[in-house]
Amino acid sequence: MSPTRIIIDTDPGVDDALTFLLALASPEIKLEALTTVHGNTNVENTTRNALAVLELLNASHISVAKGTALSLHMPVHISGDAVHGLSGIGNSNLPEPKSKPVDLHAIDYLIERALAEPGEITLFPIGPMTNVALAIRKEPRFAKAVKELVIMGGAIRSGGNITPAAEFNIHADPHAAHIVFHSGIPITLIPLDVTYKCLLLPEDVERLNKISSPISRFVRDAISIYMDFYKQYEGFKGCALHDPLTLAVIIAPELFTFENHYVDVDTSSGISTGKTLADFMKVSKKPANMKVALDVRGRDFVELFLERMETLSRSISD
Ligand code: BDR
Ligand code: CA
Repeated sequence: MSPTRIIIDTDPGVDDALTFLLALASPEIKLEALTTVHGNTNVENTTRNALAVLELLNASHISVAKGTALSLHMPVHISGDAVHGLSGIGNSNLPEPKSKPVDLHAIDYLIERALAEPGEITLFPIGPMTNVALAIRKEPRFAKAVKELVIMGGAIRSGGNITPAAEFNIHADPHAAHIVFHSGIPITLIPLDVTYKCLLLPEDVERLNKISSPISRFVRDAISIYMDFYKQYEGFKGCALHDPLTLAVIIAPELFTFENHYVDVDTSSGISTGKTLADFMKVSKKPANMKVALDVRGRDFVELFLERMETLSRSISD
């Protein structure tokens, strides 16, 4: 079978960066481009980080399109240095990238790519969905041309990670999420309910670092601040592989338990802004608008992730 052709819309971000590594280590996937957005840090940093990680991976042939700096309606909102470090990818200190983003804005890049080959590109939004929402609004043919969206976002039965109710990516731009959820594009949602079952542990990072490679070192250095955050605020040693888990929808879908639901998002300005609500009891009588992952064999995913990081590390060794 030919690999699934994907574009990742992203705000790197430690776990975003790990997603690029996993994509390039996975023969089931052909990573065609990255489009950047505000989120874990500002869009200048997320764009620089995207380019820098691709250079580390000897993958500068993959296009990066710089996207939106602000959400549709929320105040400036970045996840903060405590989670992803000052640069956005922990202590990784990657050199300034030599490559540049393409000349098109991410919104126009997404539209151009989707319309050029309708039904071919699967889009993975793993940050706030401002670019995707604006592409939907700007070009009415966009929604029909995208094959599928696999979104990291939301908290369905679980609590939130940025407020008690809301998950970070959705909370950072709930109005964008609202546009995307109601766009008619086929959606698979990977919420906190499953990502918190996929914890990379300190011993996993040690195992990977038995291989001496710029990749294993990058994972270690990128992840250290991220792990400190989880220890301090969430009380466990390790970190959730939120964004990389989206790729398991292609690589290992059998790990998930999915249900189809009508899911909406709270765009009001109260305490549950950005909360995602699934109509489990079908009281709204509305048809399902997405497939939601509600369970996952978490440790199996982490093993798969580690094996692929080991193979990648061996292929780019010192
Ligand atoms: C999401 O928020 C970001 O901090 C991560 O990169 C991930 O996309 C998890 O809530
Ligand atoms: Ca992200």
